[in-house]
Amino acid sequence: MKSFWNESLENKLQFPEINENIETSVCIIGAGLTGLSTGYYLSKHTDVVILEKDKFCGSTSGKNTGKVTSQHGVFYKYLIDSNGKDFAKKYLNANEKAIKNIEEIVNTENIECDFEKESAYVFSSQENGIEQLKEEKKAVDKIEKEKCKYVKNIELPIQKAEAIEFENQAKFNPTKYAYGLTNCIINNGGKILENSKATDINKVGDKYEISVNDYKITADKVVIATRYPTINIPGYYFLKMYQSTSYALIADVKENLFDGMYLSLDMPIVSFRTVNDNGKKLLLAVGYDYKTGVEQTVNGYTKLEDTVKKMYPRAEILYKWTAEDCISLDKIPYIGEYSNLMKNLYVATGFNKWGITSSNIAANIITDKILGKENEYEEIFKSTRLEPIKNKDEFKNMLKEAKDSIILSKFKLPKDTIDSVENGQGKIVQVDNQKVGVYKSETGEVFTVKPVCTHLGCELYFNNHDKIWECPCHGSKFSYEGKALEVPGIKDLELHQHGEN
Ligand code: FES
Repeated sequence: MKSFWNESLENKLQFPEINENIETSVCIIGAGLTGLSTGYYLSKHTDVVILEKDKFCGSTSGKNTGKVTSQHGVFYKYLIDSNGKDFAKKYLNANEKAIKNIEEIVNTENIECDFEKESAYVFSSQENGIEQLKEEKKAVDKIEKEKCKYVKNIELPIQKAEAIEFENQAKFNPTKYAYGLTNCIINNGGKILENSKATDINKVGDKYEISVNDYKITADKVVIATRYPTINIPGYYFLKMYQSTSYALIADVKENLFDGMYLSLDMPIVSFRTVNDNGKKLLLAVGYDYKTGVEQTVNGYTKLEDTVKKMYPRAEILYKWTAEDCISLDKIPYIGEYSNLMKNLYVATGFNKWGITSSNIAANIITDKILGKENEYEEIFKSTRLEPIKNKDEFKNMLKEAKDSIILSKFKLPKDTIDSVENGQGKIVQVDNQKVGVYKSETGEVFTVKPVCTHLGCELYFNNHDKIWECPCHGSKFSYEGKALEVPGIKDLELHQHGEN
């Protein structure tokens, strides 16, 4: 389903597909906010080509909350405890600087993206949560006095909620902002190519050769800005991160809405803000996240809708979508060199749901690296840090699942097997010792795939709420027909050839 943000860009500029071999100084893979922000800064200095496998801002960057904030939940106590006060202060400063940078870009480039200054609040109405808020307030005070305020009332209709407030934060429409960046990049002489999927990257001499559809791009430097990195070795990012899916909706609540941006600390975690729809104030709610690939018994849309209707009984739901985010195990993004073994290859990933400010931080760090400049924040986001990595058992399990899922490519799907799948549902069935992924549409049309992830071979499961195949290992998603939707899997699923039934 299209997000509200992506709908707001309907009929806007389309970019061409690659139709020739290209030589460039920098190739950026991924035209979300990180790729475009990096392209924005770099295109002022050198030639840049930005590749997008589908449509620009079509994935996470077009589906997020659009909150431009350094308040990342109750995060600063965790940062001080895990990395020390200086580290936490730098993290705060890096994110505050990113807010200023974004505002500056909006103003200097005249980008119409509903950018608006607002306070950000994290709130709780439960004893434990309130205790945590007080601890967080003390932690933030240690880093920067006066940065945050403790408030005993919030405008959101939640009984007895208390909160900590960060003033001077902002919100915007992320795809309109991204669209503004694309105009600047093109004006600077950069190229943006849509429907141009990078499937292979090889080092040839001092340069990189990238296979894109039927063409090659040769580049001195490459930036992987695909949310989840698609190169497995070296880098090993698949051992350091997982992906999380959240549900989002936009509602017309038919009553007055609040000022400010809110995030609940109590479970279930839900984020709230308002959006501007041609002068009308609507509610955006995002939450009920789950680790991608873990089967959900109840539809997250229903839960989110219920939460909104408890607060605003007359709410009418206008848009719904899901968003996927990449979570690093230590909760710090990875920004910088892809690996010590691959010079001139850069990465930005693991934004832990705070991709707006992180995308600008990443763009500045990577631009400085490419231009040979120091960046005061590069050390805290260092992408080549080794720890932590995932539990080795998960790795072994992944290999086992890959082995167990080897399937022959031709088979006949028996009628009783087809009958065992309800219309509108999908599942894995066993046919002659082969595992087959089957989806039956509402009208009874049958689609079969090999339920084996094209990233590293884990067995997929069918998400019956969203009608897609999901991978429990690193969160790739595929349509019921097998089309690769979300990275790190970039190749489509192999299709089973099933004879007449
Ligand atoms: Fe890595 Fe599926 S996403 S194996």
